[in-house]
Amino acid sequence: MNQITVIGLDGQQKQIEFDVGDNLMEVLRDAGYDEIMALCGGCCSCATCHVKIEDQASFLLPPVEEDEEVLVSMADDYDESSSRLSCQIPMTGDQSGMTVQIVEAD
Ligand code: FES
Repeated sequence: MNQITVIGLDGQQKQIEFDVGDNLMEVLRDAGYDEIMALCGGCCSCATCHVKIEDQASFLLPPVEEDEEVLVSMADDYDESSSRLSCQIPMTGDQSGMTVQIVEAD
């Protein structure tokens, strides 16, 4: 079973399951995290899917491409070591066990 832990804006942690092949933004939205607005629908042009992921190297995440880096680095509450745009993270079994913190949208 593929699961991640999500820390919501209220600080509550919840374990949610995901399907391989979905991206992280879709997984969070499907789990009811509507604060992930994802206004551009996953086209990497809005940064309203900003999340923080600790210890990214342990979960074989794709590298941050230039367009993602430009957008996410302008987000409020940006953290170089943990900030990602969730729409740019395709889920595989390698992400099971990962902890994702929801970030308040700008
Ligand atoms: S949904 Fe717009 S950048 Fe991710």
